[in-house]
Amino acid sequence: MTTVKYLMDGGNLEDIKYCNEFFPLAGVTTNPTLVAKEKAEYWPLMHSIREIIGPDKMLHIQTVQTTTEKIIEEAELLRDKIGGNLYIKVPISEEGLKATMQLKKRGFGVTVTAIFTPAQALLAAMAGADFVAPYANRLDNIVVDGTKVVEDIMQQFKLYNLNCQVLAASFKNVEQVHKCALCGCSAVTISANLFKHIISHPMTDAAIAGFETDWKDLYGDKTILDF
Ligand code: G3P
Repeated sequence: MTTVKYLMDGGNLEDIKYCNEFFPLAGVTTNPTLVAKEKAEYWPLMHSIREIIGPDKMLHIQTVQTTTEKIIEEAELLRDKIGGNLYIKVPISEEGLKATMQLKKRGFGVTVTAIFTPAQALLAAMAGADFVAPYANRLDNIVVDGTKVVEDIMQQFKLYNLNCQVLAASFKNVEQVHKCALCGCSAVTISANLFKHIISHPMTDAAIAGFETDWKDLYGDKTILDF
C-alpha cells in the first residue's frame, strides 16, 4: 500500500506556493466555491496553479456543467488548456455518473465529488471514477461521523477489489485528517491553514527552543559550519 497523499484544497496562489514549497504535496483540488473566492480571471488562475505545481502533480478541477454532453465539452477544454496530470471533478448525480463513464472512455482522470454516503461512492467507483471525494467535516456537522464514512468507503472498495481511490475532503481539524490516515485513506485534501496546524505543536516549539539555548550556552553564535 502506498502512503496517504496530501493535496491542497483551494485556489489561492500564495497558499499553493507555500504548500508546494514546504510540504510533500501530491497536488491541488479546487471547486467552484474555492475558485470564486479568489475573484480572479478563470484561465489565468488555472494556468498559474498548473505553473506552480508543474505538470506532474495532480490538479483536480471541477466542472460547472450539469449535463453529460457539456461536462465532456468542458473536460476537453480543460485538457487542451491546462493539461498535465489532470482530474475532472464531477459532482455525483445521474448525469455525473454517465459523464464519468464517457470521460473514462475518452481517457480522462475523473474524481466524483460531493460524496456523502458509501453507497454513492460505490456507484461512482463502478462507473470508473479514479477518485471519490467524501466530505468529512460536512458530515460531522450534521452529526454523522464523517471519518467513519471515509473508513466504510475504503472497506467497501477493498471488499470488492475496486480500483478507486478515496480523496477525503472538507476538513476542519487535524483529528479528522489523522483518523482518515489511520484507516488507510488513499488521499486527503486540506486547506493551507490546516497544513500549518498539522505540523505545529507547542511541545515541538519548546524542544527546538531548548536545543537553541543549550547550544548557545556553550558555543555562542557559532554553528557546525564554523568548526
Ligand atoms: O473539496 C471539497 C471541499 O472544498 C469542501 O470543503 O470546507 O466547503 O466543507 P468545505
